[in-house]
Amino acid sequence: MARNNFEKASNYYRTTWTPDDERRRLTSDPRGWVNHAMHLRFLDETVGRDLSDKTVLEIGAGPGLFTRELLCRGAIVTVTDLVQEQLDANRAETDALVAEASRWRKPIGRVQAYRTLDLSEGLSEVEEKFDYVVAFGGPLSYTFEKEQIAMRGMLRTCRGLVLCSVMSLDGMLGWYKEHRPEYLDEMPEEVRREFIKTGDMRPWPAKSGHACRQFRTEHLRELVARTGGEMVAMAASNYYSMHKPYEQVLADVAESEPAPALEALYDMEYDACREYPDHGTHILFAARPLQG
Ligand SMILES: C[S@@+](CC[C@H](N)C(=O)[O-])C[C@H]1O[C@@H](n2cnc3c(N)ncnc32)[C@H](O)[C@@H]1O
Repeated sequence: MARNNFEKASNYYRTTWTPDDERRRLTSDPRGWVNHAMHLRFLDETVGRDLSDKTVLEIGAGPGLFTRELLCRGAIVTVTDLVQEQLDANRAETDALVAEASRWRKPIGRVQAYRTLDLSEGLSEVEEKFDYVVAFGGPLSYTFEKEQIAMRGMLRTCRGLVLCSVMSLDGMLGWYKEHRPEYLDEMPEEVRREFIKTGDMRPWPAKSGHACRQFRTEHLRELVARTGGEMVAMAASNYYSMHKPYEQVLADVAESEPAPALEALYDMEYDACREYPDHGTHILFAARPLQG
């Protein structure tokens, strides 16, 4: 079963969802911009803007939208992903970013290493400890039955905070109703009932073949507590902005208003995301290991 999960996720991120698709996910439409902005606000709030000389293990880094942000904050990043193709794209992006920064003598962090790594193996081959472990964009959602091994591994390799984002079950149930009603409507009753309980998409993958586990905050709190950690902060990503009218408002503001107007909308969005962590498309969380 576990091997099967590994192959499905790695085939999906190797052939169906390419590094270019992944890059577009957060850059091509208002929902993506907000998702990116909420992750950055969460990063600011939990670890701050200055990561000079801090070491970060980034898991499931994909083509590097967040690697870039970590480097710009001065971090020393070990970049990892399940899939070599995603890592190659990441290396091309970050090499260009670092070269550009040094041309203009701008301070920037550095990449310590690129390596393939399967989170569901519990990071058993990682011996060192990092100041922060970052797994944004859902790597934890592909570990299924091995989620405790994965969470324990992240807490074990971390001195400071583990930051993750995963898809939100309650938020996505609302999103499907509004944007893709057929996903729930076509599910056989039994499967739907089980999905609403567990968030496991495997019995009924999306049309693209994509299947991951969606979470509730209650389950994540329990997972962190069981694996030797303590939950420090949680937020949704995309609360207002997952609804169609608001997406249009955002697109209009981004096109016609000065940048502060967009920032004000993002601030309002982030306040709601902190208030209602179960009601966005994603859940962000920060946990700390209880024992150093
Ligand atoms: C949705 S992308 C997120 C990429 C990036 N972190 C971001 O947020 O833009 C998920 C990434 O997680 C990787 N991934 C999936 N399962 C994984 C696992 N078990 N271990 C490590 N990485 C995994 C995929 O290859 C993919 O690059």
